[in-house]
Amino acid sequence: MSDSFQRMWAELLPVGRSASSGGYRRFAWNSADTECRAWFEEQARNRGLHYELDRNGNQWAWLGDPRGEGAVVTGSHLDSVPDGGAFDGPLGVVSSFAALDELRARGAEFTKPLAIVNFGDEEGARFGVACIGSRLTAGVLSREQAHGLRDADGVRLPDAMEKAGHDPDAIGADRERLARIGAFVELHVEQGRYLDEHQSVGVASAIWPHGRWRFDFHGEANHAGTTRIEDRRDPMLTYANTVLAARKKARLAGALATFGKVAVEPNGTNAIASLVRGWLDSRAADEATLDRVVEEIRQAALERGERDGVRVELTRESFTPVVDFDGPLRDRLAWVIGRGRPDAVPVLPTGAGHDAGILASAIPTAMLFVRNPTGVSHSPAEHAEEADCLAGVAALADVLEDLACQG
Ligand code: GLV
Ligand code: MN
Ligand code: MN
Repeated sequence: MSDSFQRMWAELLPVGRSASSGGYRRFAWNSADTECRAWFEEQARNRGLHYELDRNGNQWAWLGDPRGEGAVVTGSHLDSVPDGGAFDGPLGVVSSFAALDELRARGAEFTKPLAIVNFGDEEGARFGVACIGSRLTAGVLSREQAHGLRDADGVRLPDAMEKAGHDPDAIGADRERLARIGAFVELHVEQGRYLDEHQSVGVASAIWPHGRWRFDFHGEANHAGTTRIEDRRDPMLTYANTVLAARKKARLAGALATFGKVAVEPNGTNAIASLVRGWLDSRAADEATLDRVVEEIRQAALERGERDGVRVELTRESFTPVVDFDGPLRDRLAWVIGRGRPDAVPVLPTGAGHDAGILASAIPTAMLFVRNPTGVSHSPAEHAEEADCLAGVAALADVLEDLACQG
């Protein structure tokens, strides 16, 4: 295999990396994201691929006719969570270009159009909703909903888009585009420790249903040094109790519940807060369990709020139902990677969301996972060994050859 993977990896590595944390801050439409997008376009053009920016800000690099039927598409995303790792997203995009280089080196003859895609704003780190690019395209997020989103500084999504040179009025469902796609395969770093030391690459079976809920705890600002305990309406107490309740309810149900983001007003050391806003991320193996856990957390918040004199409001900001990846496509990937022994290929579910999960309701979709020795993800410590990454590129090349080069 050529060294194209290592070259591209080294080019992207410094983009948007914080010197203090070592993590990435590539947020939708910020300067690091713009630099990553320029890099993608350059990769497309250097390879003589047809470069296309779609109405929703997703980037496409086409080999063959972009208007042709039955296209085979691969790719992932280049944005990150706050202080994210290097692999979540970029591994899929870099591996896609490297797999294409590998196929060209093999002299593969393509019978179907092939595209590499960089979906915009997968992590939802800036505007609170994950997979905005693919959700818009699939029509599960409307233009109006997207236009209503704001970041933590109050910047509206359409203004951020416009500032980065993208027309926010053009966004919306793009079903004709999806109708021309025969299969989408996303390669991604594994975000758990399912794959053992003998397994570099696995195939995804399903994605747990998951969502984000915003809890607003409204209390009363007051002096930390003079307000009697019995006179306080302190939303921090209700928030803290809700965090503990979330952990307990999720544990008892075999689900997951995380408060990873909080905003406090006025955020002064010597003032009781007037408002605490906490964002809950919750996931479970099935929707009934997820619904029950979130409802139990809501009840716990309301009950505690009653005692604290705090009003609690709950808003669901996003939701992704359970995803079962296309069975025949999954089996075909396992057959190809296992070289005719599909049982030798691990097939694993994940609790992480992906653009592939959003597209799965519209087109046949599959995922490949590359081993992550520690399982750590959404952290600067996220890692995959180079040998496993190269095994991922080889597996993806085999899969694309099977899907896009057969008569
Ligand atoms: C995306 O990485 C998610 O699952 O939050
Ligand atoms: Mn992620
Ligand atoms: Mn990802």
